Amino acid sequence: METIRYENGYPGGPANGYGSEFPNPFLTEHIVLRNRDYPDIGQIDEYMRRGGYEVARKALTTMQPSAIIDEVKKSGLRGRGGAGFPTGVKWGFIPKDITPKYLVCNADESEPGTFNNHEVIDFNPHQMIEGMIMSGFAVGATTGYIYIRGEYAYGARNLERAIREAYDKGFLGQKLWGTDFDFDLYVHRGAGAYICGEETALLESLEGKIGQPRLKPPFPAVAGLYAKPTVVNNVETLANVPMIIERGADWFRSYGTEKSPGTKAISISGHVKRPGNFEIPLGITMRQFIYELADGIRDGHELKFLIPGGASANWLINTPEHLDLPLTWDDLAAKGTMLGSGAVVVLDDSTCVVAASMKVDEFFKHESCGKCTPCREGTHFLVKVWERIEHGKGRASDIPLLNDLGKEMLGKCFCPLGESAVSPVASALKYFADEIRQHIELGRCPLGASHPMPHVAAAEGSAYTGAAMPPAR
Ligand SMILES: Cc1cc2nc3c(=O)[nH]c(=O)nc-3n(C[C@H](O)[C@H](O)[C@H](O)COP(=O)(O)O)c2cc1C
Ligand code: SF4
Repeated sequence: METIRYENGYPGGPANGYGSEFPNPFLTEHIVLRNRDYPDIGQIDEYMRRGGYEVARKALTTMQPSAIIDEVKKSGLRGRGGAGFPTGVKWGFIPKDITPKYLVCNADESEPGTFNNHEVIDFNPHQMIEGMIMSGFAVGATTGYIYIRGEYAYGARNLERAIREAYDKGFLGQKLWGTDFDFDLYVHRGAGAYICGEETALLESLEGKIGQPRLKPPFPAVAGLYAKPTVVNNVETLANVPMIIERGADWFRSYGTEKSPGTKAISISGHVKRPGNFEIPLGITMRQFIYELADGIRDGHELKFLIPGGASANWLINTPEHLDLPLTWDDLAAKGTMLGSGAVVVLDDSTCVVAASMKVDEFFKHESCGKCTPCREGTHFLVKVWERIEHGKGRASDIPLLNDLGKEMLGKCFCPLGESAVSPVASALKYFADEIRQHIELGRCPLGASHPMPHVAAAEGSAYTGAAMPPAR
């Protein structure tokens, strides 16, 4: 198999910021990013040597499906794909009397700045496969699909290799560990569209249709793939399942907070000295994350603002109130933003707010699936206005116009993608309206030049390539 090249080096590369060179002071042991502790964990023999597939064997041979669902409920595991919905509760919605049922692993990971699932896919695939076997058993699904973004060629082939290894050992296929449970697993490569990470658009795409979201309800748990009950879970969510069943809900709850238990793999990119993925116990502060794990802002600069949960999230700024926020779903929601896909994008004082907002909205315009007018037209007009300001042709009326466009989109788009395009608008106007005004009045960037966003993780082949530091100016 070909070797993938990571610009930052992996694992523990000098610019990468983790591995034995930089021990993680917040965790004694990695859970999701276990490859850090055991670099060969992606190979089935090493995975088994560390107890891998033993939990699935025990669960399938000694536990009732309902007992697995109960333990996951007790653990308080919340979906790691964005919304943070309790996983056990979602599994509980699956009707028992309808067959077949499906389990889908959402490995699309297309949000700019987000590359945490990728590390699991590339370096610890057996933990998510074992999680899928156990989750399939728990909900009664006998077929699983891993939906992965098409460009992630290495990840897709690595998953296929790991699946073959699991079939060879008899951990996938028929009558697993002598039980009556059959489970087949397939990798499905998408064609590369951010919207196909949204669970219903993903299901449309998996069915061979154009990737556009479906109206909810019905939710996938009731009518999902081929209109049958379907669980859609994120890579990291599923990778947590074996450890929860092996060590128990109380152990899982010993990490994190009451309402956000466990750990979270978080990607950090932009103007920090040590970009990369880090696993944290939920609840450490944004300040600890940026300054202790990612080693702070590059020399000679100060933090200006940050996007805490992938490009969709509302921004936070350089105030104690924002920096001392615990990284949990509820604490971020209380400040009007979100943990989202678990990606922090950090921008320093060299960043032009107009250029940054335009860049983020260009992404949403490009990725709008076109199904509904407020998003299709709204993202187009937002970019037009940002471009006008950026290119020195801004008008005084552009600030209220941006505001109005945002209002016309919020609450009126068919799915969350369109609303996400309003995040940079609302955030920039809330925190940096003076800078935008100056940009308009001067007909150029008040910082002296137009500074585009640093190259944050983009979905190009390997998301890791994007975590590189921008060159110092
Ligand atoms: C535009 C959009 C893109 C999304 N992309 C992803 C993704 O790449 N991976 C993911 O797990 N969830 C993504 N989600 C969230 C999924 O719709 C869904 O909530 C999630 O996969 C459920 O898994 P969980 O319960 O384990 O979090 C996206 C949502 C939206 C609205
Ligand atoms: S909000 Fe955007 S991405 Fe979502 S359905 Fe409408 S056009 Fe498509």
